[in-house]
Amino acid sequence: MNQITPMLKQYLGIKDQHPDAILFFRMGDFYEMFFEDAEVASKILGIALTARGTLNGEKVPMCGVPHHASRSYIARLVAAGKKVAICEQVEDPASSKGIVKRDVVRIVTPGSVLDERELGEKDSLYIAALVKCPGSYGLSHVDLSTGEFQTTETSDWEEIIDELARINPAELLVLERDKLLNSKDLNEYVIEELDSDFYDPSDGTRVLEEQLGTTSLASYGLEEMGAAVIAAGAVIRYLRETQKSGLGHIKSITPYRPGDFMFLDHATTVNLELFKTIRRQSNKGTLLHVLDKTITPMGARLLKKWIAYPLVNLDAIKERQSAVAELKEDPFLREDLRKELGQIYDLERLNGRVVLRRATPKDLIALRQSVARLPQIKRKLAGRASVLLSTIGESIDTLEDIHRLLDSSIRDDAPAVTKDGGIIKEGYSEELDGLLKLSRGGKEWIANFAKREQERSGIPNLKVGYNKVFGYYIEVSKANLKLVPSHYVRKQTLVGAERYVTQELKEMEDEILQAEERRVSLELELFEEILRQVSSHNRRIKHSAQLIAQLDVLAALAEAADQYGYIRPKIDDSRNLEIVEGRHPVIERVMRNEQFIPNDVVLDDQEQQIMIITGPNMAGKSTILRQTALIVLMAQMGSFVPAAKARVGLVDRIFSRVGASDDITRGRSTFMVEMNETASILRNVTPRGLVILDEIGRGTSTYDGLSIAWAVAEALHDLEGKGVRTLFATHYHELTELVTTKERVKNFNVAVKKWRDKIVFLRKLVPGGSSHSYGIDVARLAGLPEPVIQRAKEILENLEGEEIDEAGRPRLARSSRDKVGEIIQLNLFGMQDEHLVRWLRGLDISRMTPLEALVELDKMKRYVEKEGRQLAEK
Ligand SMILES: Nc1ncnc2c1ncn2[C@@H]1O[C@H](COP(=O)(O)OP(=O)(O)O)[C@@H](O)[C@H]1O
Ligand SMILES: [Mg+2]
Repeated sequence: MNQITPMLKQYLGIKDQHPDAILFFRMGDFYEMFFEDAEVASKILGIALTARGTLNGEKVPMCGVPHHASRSYIARLVAAGKKVAICEQVEDPASSKGIVKRDVVRIVTPGSVLDERELGEKDSLYIAALVKCPGSYGLSHVDLSTGEFQTTETSDWEEIIDELARINPAELLVLERDKLLNSKDLNEYVIEELDSDFYDPSDGTRVLEEQLGTTSLASYGLEEMGAAVIAAGAVIRYLRETQKSGLGHIKSITPYRPGDFMFLDHATTVNLELFKTIRRQSNKGTLLHVLDKTITPMGARLLKKWIAYPLVNLDAIKERQSAVAELKEDPFLREDLRKELGQIYDLERLNGRVVLRRATPKDLIALRQSVARLPQIKRKLAGRASVLLSTIGESIDTLEDIHRLLDSSIRDDAPAVTKDGGIIKEGYSEELDGLLKLSRGGKEWIANFAKREQERSGIPNLKVGYNKVFGYYIEVSKANLKLVPSHYVRKQTLVGAERYVTQELKEMEDEILQAEERRVSLELELFEEILRQVSSHNRRIKHSAQLIAQLDVLAALAEAADQYGYIRPKIDDSRNLEIVEGRHPVIERVMRNEQFIPNDVVLDDQEQQIMIITGPNMAGKSTILRQTALIVLMAQMGSFVPAAKARVGLVDRIFSRVGASDDITRGRSTFMVEMNETASILRNVTPRGLVILDEIGRGTSTYDGLSIAWAVAEALHDLEGKGVRTLFATHYHELTELVTTKERVKNFNVAVKKWRDKIVFLRKLVPGGSSHSYGIDVARLAGLPEPVIQRAKEILENLEGEEIDEAGRPRLARSSRDKVGEIIQLNLFGMQDEHLVRWLRGLDISRMTPLEALVELDKMKRYVEKEGRQLAEK
């Protein structure tokens, strides 16, 4: 009963070590899965579930996929959130005694798919690790396909979550001790929890030092970054375990602090549609799509990073600008360079595949063709005026030795697979040349042999052929059988012919086949050796690849600037922002029949710091807001901008928020989200920031919403006594009264004209508040019955009449903290009213909305008036 086959025993032993992965067990030309793995995988893959043998009297469920098609099956399992452990036969079945040895050679996880050909070449694929330490969080990420390796840390959880969103890893590692697995901020990530047996955080330094081949992390500036080191160590530990093969291309790490770049939180990235549109989640209609004129895949990936990480260092921004300017103004240079770039394949990933020993002969051809362009590019960059271009030129390693090696060794028609040889050029290896000669000589011999036998036997149509089963044979048609010499040995009978072999023919066949076999295995050896050699230069290749990526992005920005009429913005460290005739880079591209109307936006820290922008629906408010943010972002990534003139005082953070009903947060408690996001602005914004508020407060009732909008605007105006540059679009035109109490607030509206009962959108931002929301006009256009429209107008007038109180101050401007409070206090001491004092003491102002405060105040006022009347009556 308990009989178990040796194969099943081996299987269970290996499966035991990989309980949480689906085990792909290599059996000849198939990968087979058993037991629960088979049940799970067959469902996900939609393949037949069968059985193989029995265990303890029960059938063993089994399913299988062909080896040659395994890539796509694995990709589908991984996409379904599974890990796949690939177990190969690790010895030659022909030479093994008993059962073939098998071992897991690799574990495929979401962050390390089998082959980056499965993913878009323009996307980076990151595995990240997030760790919690006393007082700080560490976050590290690696792109296995290129060897890019970075780490950071900060004490702020929110900041780390935003940074994580910016990285957007395919797989996130956390430590069991940190108890982060169920954190709701992480629930959109595929998480892998590492227990302390697997990775001991106190080993972080050692693991990392080992990987980088250094004895001190200080040279990387990591000595003060404990959490960052632990996170980096976790990634390495995990990759070692899952990849099995060398991570030789991960030989350096770049530490950074979130403050090294402009801070963009997740909501802002989403709202500005940098990489994906909100409605369709598509790339078309995004800033990336407009700017992506890159030619190489590594350039495309780098452009994404430049957009996600705008700079905050003036010199670095200006350096990029100068390079873009030079490339923009010299279209011939740009054209030449871009032509060269067009011949360069994905150097970064080719390099990664070489290091991971996954490169095919075709990959090496692509590598050779790519490095062949480097000398020409270097020459074209020599002596360029802009520092960045000439530095890139000087730093490019033209890799001529690698070119020579590949050029002399790999055949131009080398195949994509190695198993049949045909890879190595003649003249590269004497031994190989000898074998080639031998097998070629053998074939020649066979041809002569056929001629000779025809003559000797007198059989004119005697043929020599070859098939896999019998090898070489002599074929004689039925009609000539009587002429067959006696030393021919019959092998096979066909309908119209017989096949024979001779001693001589068999001997030659052995010689030819042996030479063939040795040729193929020698070619494989030589190929491996070439991979090893190229791999030993991987840092040089990577470095050149990164420079090419930079050049590609700079040329792409120049191309976009030229095509779309962008200008070079002035960048300084003031707190001003002046945009003359600014345009929205994306909307202006998708407009067909209409002209895009440019607009000016001016902000500073003296006169006009907060622009309140009113105007009816569809007027163009959101567009002005977003284009302003996008122009600042583009400026700080070193790009030119869509405007006639622009001056940007460095911005350290952009916050962009859109009120709940703008279709952004479908399916969530929208008001809560809106308020969370607004709260995070108030917590994180600095006077160097730029705040874009689009209809904040509209997720709740009018008075609540207005009160919140008002209070938020006040807080931004008073921020650290300096205030922050803010654009605030709102349909609460009551908000325009803020100018009466806050000096650096100015009102604007997006002009519309009424023309014969129709609203004409002028799309022009003009000074002054719009007292009119035109909502009722829009309602009339939409076909609401006339009596309803008339009544609505009446109600509106009533409401508007209430906005100003008896003292001529806007009701909403009143505050418990300013003079109104003092007056009451005087009165109240005059009256010695203990009740009022107690009442006031009992109020927790910090927890009240302006509206609640107003209501309390109103009650007090009525109370005091009543008291006063009573006193007077006495
Ligand atoms: N400056 C402009 N020039 C031309 N068309 C514009 C401009 N601004 C906005 N539009 C058009 O008007 C539409 C609505 O603009 P939007 O900014 O969403 O208005 P609002 O936020 O005031 O409701 C946009 O989708 C665009 O098609
Ligand atoms: Mg809008």
